[in-house]
Order: sequence, then C-alpha cells, then structure tokens
Amino acid sequence: MNTHNLKLGVNIDHVATLRQARGTVYPNPLAAARLCEAAGAHGITVHLREDRRHIQDRDVTALRKALKIRLNLEMAATPEIIAIALKVRPDEVCLVPEKRRELTTEGGLDVFGQWKTLKTAVARLADEGIAVSLFIDPDRRQLDAAAAVGAPVVELHTGTYCDAAGASIRRELKRLMDGARYAHALGLQVNAGHGINLDNIRGILCVPCLDTLNIGHSIVARAVLVGMRLAVREMLKAMAGYRG
Ligand code: PXP
Repeated sequence: MNTHNLKLGVNIDHVATLRQARGTVYPNPLAAARLCEAAGAHGITVHLREDRRHIQDRDVTALRKALKIRLNLEMAATPEIIAIALKVRPDEVCLVPEKRRELTTEGGLDVFGQWKTLKTAVARLADEGIAVSLFIDPDRRQLDAAAAVGAPVVELHTGTYCDAAGASIRRELKRLMDGARYAHALGLQVNAGHGINLDNIRGILCVPCLDTLNIGHSIVARAVLVGMRLAVREMLKAMAGYRG
C-alpha cells in the first residue's frame, strides 16, 4: 500500500484537559494547533463534549478563525451541539456516540438504531457544506446504514484493535481491513481513529483505502515527554537570576 497520501488529523482535546485541570489559560489549544500545523498535520480535530470537560466553545471559534488546515469537529448529534456546528461551520463534522460517564468515546455509533436522528443531522450539516463523517465499528450492517443515511465519510473505530492482545490482534485487524474495503466499495471516504500510537500504527498501515487517521492522546502524551527537557531548562534559566 502507498502510505504517501495518508493524512493526519491531530486531536488536541487533551491539551485542553491539562488547561481545565487547573483553570489556567495555558496550555492554549490554539497554540498547540499552530504547532501541529507547522509540523505538517493535515487537520485538527476537537471534540466539543456536552459536559465541556476539555474543549470549550471559545476554543472551537478561535480554531475556526485561525487555522489554515482543516478543522474537524467531533460531536454528538444533539440539537445544542448541531446548532453550534451550524454557526461555527467547521470543514468536517464527525458524529460520535457520547456518554457522560465515559472516559473517552467507547464505541461506534449505532447508525442502524439511530437512523432517523442521524439522517436529519447529516442532511442539516451537509446543507451548510460540512462534510459529515460517522464514527462506526468496522461492521457491514453499520457501514451500509452509514451510506444509506447519506454520510460521505466514515471513521472506523480502531480502539478495539488498538486495545487487543494476543490472538485477537489479528482478528481485529482483519475486521478493520475488511471494513475499510467494504466502505470504500460503497463509495465512502474511509478515515480511522482511536487509540492509535507509535506501537500499534504498523498494523493500521496494513488497512487499505484509508484517507485520514485521527490521533490524539498518544501524540499529546508524547509531546509532554519530548518537551520536558526544554521546559525544565527554560525554568532553570528563569531562576538563574536569583541573588538570594
Ligand atoms: N476519533 C474519534 C471519533 C474519537 O472519539 C477520538 C477520541 O476523542 C479519536 C479519534 C482520537 O482518539 P485517541 O485520543 O485515542 O487518539
């Protein structure tokens, strides 16, 4: 497979998690997004959760104004958040299931079960020129339903593969490969995301027909480590003027 054209969307939610933990103004997600942009990322993803635990409305507005690369807004298909998306007009929206008590998005959408809600949401967002993606498990029934509700893009949930151990790794990877081929044959753009890191990405690169990978937690976690040396040096330099 030619990986040359595979795009990276960086999910910067957890930059905001760090800020919200202390109620400070830093680290600023927009500053992080600019660094991602400068490093070659193709897009920025943020999840505006109903409980606003990390990304805030003002972050989405600021990103929309400042970014040159694509802004992908992850969100639940609720009237409140749909209204915000219609106002902010991100380049893309990725509809996800959302539970208040979950640590992170726990599984794909049940497009089949939520047919009516999703069809209405997809149509409203598409009318405003927003490319709508549905976050789903690599399951043929869900993929058929995604195509039938009129979504041009699906994001395959890679979390089960990324969390798998032992014999299930190959099984989960095969599911992703079959799902990607099937979605592509349905005419859908195929993205993938959740739980991808530097250890498991080799398997993901075997999945055919991929357009974009959306990766968040592992990149933010890695950024903390690769930046630590510089951050400590900066503070020591700031302390160097101490004269007792
Ligand atoms: N794609 C979707 C739809 C997600 O919900 C998430 C998590 O917010 C991601 C990608 C990124 O997952 P991770 O932070 O595990 O890389």
